[in-house]
Amino acid sequence: MAIQNIYILAIESSCDDTAASVMLNGKILSNVVAGQSIHEAYGGVVPELASRAHQQNIVPVVDQALKKANVDKNQLNAVAFTRGPGLMGSLLVGTSFAKSLAYGLGIPLIDVNHMQAHILAHFIDEEGFEKPPFPFLAMTISGGHTQIVRVNSHFDMEVIGETIDDAVGEAFDKSGKLLGLGYPAGPEIDRRAKLGNPKAFKFTKPKVDGLNFSFSGLKTAILYFIQKEIKANPNFIEEHLNDICASIQYTIIGILMDKLKLATKATGLTHIAIGGGVSANTGIRQALKNGEAKFGWTTYVPKFEFTTDNAAMIAIVGYLKYLEQDFAEQSVTASSRLKI
Ligand code: KG4
Ligand code: ZN
Repeated sequence: MAIQNIYILAIESSCDDTAASVMLNGKILSNVVAGQSIHEAYGGVVPELASRAHQQNIVPVVDQALKKANVDKNQLNAVAFTRGPGLMGSLLVGTSFAKSLAYGLGIPLIDVNHMQAHILAHFIDEEGFEKPPFPFLAMTISGGHTQIVRVNSHFDMEVIGETIDDAVGEAFDKSGKLLGLGYPAGPEIDRRAKLGNPKAFKFTKPKVDGLNFSFSGLKTAILYFIQKEIKANPNFIEEHLNDICASIQYTIIGILMDKLKLATKATGLTHIAIGGGVSANTGIRQALKNGEAKFGWTTYVPKFEFTTDNAAMIAIVGYLKYLEQDFAEQSVTASSRLKI
């Protein structure tokens, strides 16, 4: 029997990146992301501006994804889109566009859960990247999410721990804001942390039961620390910036690793996959690698372009659902608080 070629177009618009990707049988042909620099001036994502920028970008981004893939829209087998979770105004743009396109082309529509997609990004066919075997643990860490998930199969997942307040990316970004760094501050803290002493300053780790996280207390602790030090030395931040960044990052890594250790103990699972923008952090990647030798973990870190918000991860979920003929009705609606 001839193998059928399945072309999926995927659209992601849950936060501040407008993204489209074309996939053929689990392999990425194109992966286009238009970021929105407009939010930098505000030090965070402004939902109203995000939806407007999505509306502006969506057609050009989809057009570019098709052209880069050298695929005509009439070749597509299905359109996949992010249904949630995310900002409602942003989700509505991608959802409405995907519905109209699928309707116009007379092909199936596939709804995708953004959090499942961050995890299933590990199943994109990519040379040099191994797929984790079931069951495994996934830790999704980004500006909007912090979760530990037990993954039994592609679509059988259980959240076993999550943040009760800020996401880990917010801990990086809000701390950076206090230090006068631009938005998002995560990459800059990462860069400076390499030049500083991680044990220069000590920040207490929050005490949260079980596998849940809390990051809002850390931000407050850093604020008080800085206020106190500046009273004694107005140039404290400039003089110690690299050490402060290294110490903040060290604390955050400690919090994440403590919970991962607990999760492996609680589940007996030692295969760990990470995803989300914060998984780009070099300190976190190193700490995970160290866990392989120290605790017998096997760790999986996706290709960088599949860690931050992107449509390739939506495409792989679309493909897996297509194989199961799991399609959405045209009456499907975006859901800002969609759960795994
Ligand atoms: O996945 P993502 O692009 O969007 C969300 O869904 O939030 O993640 C963005 C977050 C931001 O908070 C950013 O500061 C953080 O990822 N980030 C990093 C690094 N690169 C991006 N945080 C720490 N170290 C990095 N190298
Ligand atoms: Zn995300």
